[in-house]
This record gives sequence, C-alpha cells and structure tokens, in this order.
Amino acid sequence: DLPPRVRIHEVGARDGLQNEKTAVPTGVKAEFIRRLADAGLTTIEATSFVHPAWVPQLADAEELFPLVRDVGADLPVLVPNQRGLDRALALGATRVAVFASATESFAKANLNRTLDESLAVFEPVVRRAKDEGVHVRGYVSMCFGDPWEGAVAPQQVARVCTALRDMGCDELSLGDTIGVATPGHVRELLSLLNERGVPTPAIGVHFHDTYGQALANTLAALHHGVTTVDASAGGLGGCPYAKSATGNLATEDLVWMLHGLGIETGVDLGRLTATSVWMAEELGRPSPSRTVRALSHK
Ligand code: HMG
Ligand code: MG
Repeated sequence: DLPPRVRIHEVGARDGLQNEKTAVPTGVKAEFIRRLADAGLTTIEATSFVHPAWVPQLADAEELFPLVRDVGADLPVLVPNQRGLDRALALGATRVAVFASATESFAKANLNRTLDESLAVFEPVVRRAKDEGVHVRGYVSMCFGDPWEGAVAPQQVARVCTALRDMGCDELSLGDTIGVATPGHVRELLSLLNERGVPTPAIGVHFHDTYGQALANTLAALHHGVTTVDASAGGLGGCPYAKSATGNLATEDLVWMLHGLGIETGVDLGRLTATSVWMAEELGRPSPSRTVRALSHK
C-alpha cells in the first residue's frame, strides 16, 4: 500500500537558508538551486518575498529569482501578503505559497497577526494568484505541537486547513515546525482531514527532524497515501521565529528510504549528496544528515 512514486518538494534553499546566521551570497544560492535541479529535483522552493527586515537571509529574492528561473524545475516562492505576491508576480513566479499557523502564538510571532487576521490577509492573495493561473500551496505550521502552546489539537489544524482549501489553495503542507510529531499523531491528523473533505492527494507533509522522528512520520504518511514530501538537502533548516525548530528532514535520508522501498523519486542520490557536501563547505559546518555523512565518508 505504498505509492510507486513520490514528489519531493525541496525546501533547502528557502527553509534551510532562511535560518543561517551568516548571509549566503546570492551567487552561491543560485549555484545551490542549479545543482539541486541537476540532481533531479523537480520542485525547488527558491526563496521568500517576505519583509526583508524579518528574514534578512532572503532579502536578495529579487536578485536571486532571475538567476535561477531557467533551471528547469518548478520554483515555488513564499508570499505572506499582497506585497509579497506583487513582488513574485513581477518576476514571473508561477507557484507561490502562503503560510498559515494552526496556533495563535505562532501566527503572532511569524506574521504579526492573529490567526484569523492572517487568513483574511491570505484570502485575496490566493484569489489573485489563482486568477493569474498561479499554483498555490498553503502551509500550516505547528500542526502537531507549538513551543508556546504545547500539544495542538487536530481539530484546530483541520479548521485552518479547510479555510485554506476553501480559499482555493491547490495543495496544503502540514508543518511539524518544531519536529515533535510521532507517527500515530500523523495518522490521526490525516484521517481527520479526510473526514473534513480534504483529499489525500492535496496534502503534503513537512517534517522537521528535531526529535529524530521525521522519517518515521513520513513513512506513516506514505502508508496513508501521501505522495508529496518536503525535505531539505543536507538537512538544512529551521525557523527564525520558532526557536526550538531544527533542520528539516534531510532530502538524502528521505531518498535513501524511498529508493530502498522501491519508490521512484527521479533523484540521483550521488549528485545530491555531492551538492550537500559542497554546500556544507560553503556554510563552514558539516551536514547533520546521516546519509550525507555515510555516503561521503566511504
Ligand atoms: P508587518 O510588520 O506587520 O507588516 O509584518 P505590515 O503589513 O504592517 O507592513 C509594514 C511595512 O512592511 C510596509 O512598508 C509594507 O510595505 C512592508 P511601509 O509602508 O511601512 O514602508 N511590507 C513588505 N515589504 C516587502 N515585502 C513584503 C512586505 N510586506 C509588508 N512581503 C509580515 C508582516 C507578514 C510582512 C512579516 O511578519 C513577515 O515578513 N513575516 C515573514 C516571516 C517568515 O518568513 N517566516 C519564515 C517562513 S514560515 C516557516 O518557515 C514555516 C514553514 O517552513 C512550515 C513549517 O515548518 O511549519 C513554511
Ligand atoms: Mg519549515
């Protein structure tokens, strides 16, 4: 009951690099994205059109996007509001993502709005993007736990998910921002979403690996029929507005598991690992990915 193929939504260049203490030069980011595409990744989240003071690491979005537009992969970008959408559309982006929270605390910390205010901001953004023929992903953060509020009820997550679907989001991504989920919790949330009318093909999963559960959680989601999995090359990542977040599930760890299960990804693991080793050198510290370490120390 596992899918024959999984689409990896690569977030290293966005979720990964938004959290780096040092500013990564725009040219290095462009080279990273190009190498990810060469390794066979077909969906590469490129950057965010957010307020430059909130995420200075991605303040070069206008310079970066034109450098990578031709890499031959889909390049979704984050937009928090109309201003972000304007900036993305001006550069010809064809895929955008809005990002909501399942909790009030994180809506406030990440978007400076209450949860309902943030949904009200997204509504015209999604409508306009759809009118322009742009694909829209709706992220929901803190789907399993929140650093300020503790455990998060699946009903609370489902309310935000259905609101985003009703606005017209083509796909959702369930964020375990601080990496606290376990597989039973994942199954429970996915079942509830199906009961509330959200079909499994419209659901992606986005696990951070803080407690080492990301792969187990992914396997639970695959058994439920999920075929879109977010990961970051080399396990880069975190969230600057959620201190307890660490890196995402490493793309290499994910690919190792998927290929071992006979599930196609289109990714060349050797090329991808070489890319993460190169990026780790640029960042000046080793990749936390177990698979990167294993494959690069042979
Ligand atoms: P605000 O301060 O409330 O903004 O921030 P505002 O709407 O009051 O506007 C204030 C000024 O900012 C205005 O300028 C706007 O034009 C400007 P002024 O008129 O004063 O000169 N402004 C902008 N400028 C450029 N681009 C924009 C933009 N928007 C407003 N898009 C805001 C609200 C949403 C902008 C801010 O909170 C923000 O940028 N937040 C982004 C935070 C972020 O990027 N977090 C990380 C991504 S989410 C994540 O990592 C989780 C995820 O991975 C899933 C998971 O793991 O759970 C996706
Ligand atoms: Mg994230």
